[in-house]
Amino acid sequence: MLLDRLGRPLRDLRISVTDRCNLRCTYCMPAEFFGPDHAFLPRDELLSFEEIERLTRVFVLLGVRKLRITGGEPTLRRDLPELIGRLSRIGGVQDLAMTTNGLLLPRFAAGLRAAGLQRVTVSIDSLDPEVFGHMNGLGTHPQKVLDGIEAALQAGLGVKINTVVQRGVNDDGLRELWLALRDLAPVRFIEFMDVGNHNGWNMDSVVPSREVLARLGEAFTPVDPGYRGEVAARHVGAGHEVGLISSVTAPFCGDCSRARISAVGVLYPCLFAGSGTDLRAPLRSGASDARLSELLGGVWSARTDRYSEERGEVTRSGKVEMSHIGG
Ligand code: GTP
Ligand code: 5AD
Ligand code: SF4
Ligand code: SF4
Repeated sequence: MLLDRLGRPLRDLRISVTDRCNLRCTYCMPAEFFGPDHAFLPRDELLSFEEIERLTRVFVLLGVRKLRITGGEPTLRRDLPELIGRLSRIGGVQDLAMTTNGLLLPRFAAGLRAAGLQRVTVSIDSLDPEVFGHMNGLGTHPQKVLDGIEAALQAGLGVKINTVVQRGVNDDGLRELWLALRDLAPVRFIEFMDVGNHNGWNMDSVVPSREVLARLGEAFTPVDPGYRGEVAARHVGAGHEVGLISSVTAPFCGDCSRARISAVGVLYPCLFAGSGTDLRAPLRSGASDARLSELLGGVWSARTDRYSEERGEVTRSGKVEMSHIGG
């Protein structure tokens, strides 16, 4: 089995398929930095579906079992169901999921399901139209996301909900959100992280998960992790599951088995990496599968990343953007 320098296997591959998004969340792609003139990647810079499939096959031979499609907003990538179909046919892939803001699911959920997508994780930070409109940077109404969640459920997709919590921004509405959504899907509350370079992160805006749990106002019992390295610590209260993603107060680097490829084919062994390894150049200059495998294996074997655990000890700058690498 391929292990990194800290003994962690390579199990998950998160594939970003576009750097575009139809929202401008203040903590991810703030409108002042990603305005109308922002130059997104031209299509030929993006990995093609053939290239993504080929890389994924090599990753699967190295141990990857879980795939997650991310962005930007992945549903903006043209013909996405075709890619899903290609990936779902790769033997050895046990889990095929996508992270999305849900806005286009009414249009695409059924087709994605039919192509082989198993699950979606839909992000929604507040049910208050004003708060959500502010956080998504474009005034988009939360009902649009709820329609997307409904469409995903109708299509037979597994659904989880992600809510990023920021103190003084959406922390007043957490119980309301949980009460409204818990019948639909497990809600996971995420501590606001200092990922990317434009989100004005500071520790005061982080609401620690234990405080989130207290705000939900039920008696909760912890549940054992569903798999080794599960990011969310799950709890059950009032018969419903809630997940706490505590990247700041309880980092989970120790079991981190996730590799990420950006839409242009750069491999990042950590969400907070400042630089990565270009896979597109070798792909486009005729590298064999054996050569690609050697390259990927070499990067993983040398991996020592544990940024969330180290943070506070070191300050780095020039981190990769969340919209570039996916969540
Ligand atoms: P499943 O358990 O397979 O459903 O997925 P997941 O829990 O990995 O879910 P998801 O990909 O939705 O991740 C949820 C959030 O956790 C992301 O949006 C990030 O904010 C955070 N996260 C996920 N992976 C990592 C990671 O490797 N490092 C850190 N620091 N945060 C992560
Ligand atoms: N901190 C925590 N989570 C974040 N996400 C994006 N930026 C951040 C951040 N700074 C999450 C989104 C979504 C996924 C793409 O990543 O809420 O669930
Ligand atoms: Fe788009 Fe998701 Fe980033 Fe919001 S968090 S801007 S929906 S990619
Ligand atoms: Fe993995 Fe890096 Fe996140 Fe730690 S900070 S869990 S090593 S991606």
